[in-house]
Amino acid sequence: MRPLRIAVTKGRLESRATSLFRTMGLDCTNLVKKGRRLILPVDEYEVVLAKSADVMTYVEHGACDMGIVGKDTIVESGAQVYEMIDLGFGKCYFALAGKKGLDFYDGHSEKIVATKYPNVARRFFEDKGMDINIIKIEGSVELAPLLGLADGIVDIVETGKTIKENGLEVYEEIMPISARLVVNIASMKLRKEEIESFLSDADLAKEILE
Ligand code: PRP
Repeated sequence: MRPLRIAVTKGRLESRATSLFRTMGLDCTNLVKKGRRLILPVDEYEVVLAKSADVMTYVEHGACDMGIVGKDTIVESGAQVYEMIDLGFGKCYFALAGKKGLDFYDGHSEKIVATKYPNVARRFFEDKGMDINIIKIEGSVELAPLLGLADGIVDIVETGKTIKENGLEVYEEIMPISARLVVNIASMKLRKEEIESFLSDADLAKEILE
């Protein structure tokens, strides 16, 4: 049987995930000295580094058994996986934001919202019974209201620096976000013991790190 594979979101969550693994007693040498390698042996496991949306895809399809990914990506993707542990790091929140001092809800015209998270944005405004026009942006979403493309953005806010330094403000907080440990549905049945042992070690390590 192949090693259990864990997909880890590249970038912001990577160093916290490495600390978690280290606290679980795993040898993270390969993760620290990864060079350009994408599949890294970490003791008896294989760690795969991928973009957040791809972590969901690999875990949903069983190419990876587990994943470490932000709640933002989980809610946006809608992929069918088990969400097992709130890891408590990577904390930020979804917000509706826009130019400082403006009232987003003012006026009768249909609002334009730019976002990397169209599903989250759609659901947020559906719940309010509002029709809006969503424009998908791939990064630095804060540019959209500044350039006059959109009335507001739905994006993640961590320190709030990007918003502040660009003359924007949070109009409304939508939901809190943190990193989660997700598990493939079939793996949870087929490799139950190994996965449960990993999850309990991760849970313990999480407590130690908090
Ligand atoms: C995220 C988010 C904001 C920023 C918020 O972008 O989309 O732009 O971080 O962080 P802050 O509140 O600490 O300023 P990211 O850095 O992931 O890059 P991207 O916009 O290019 O995707």
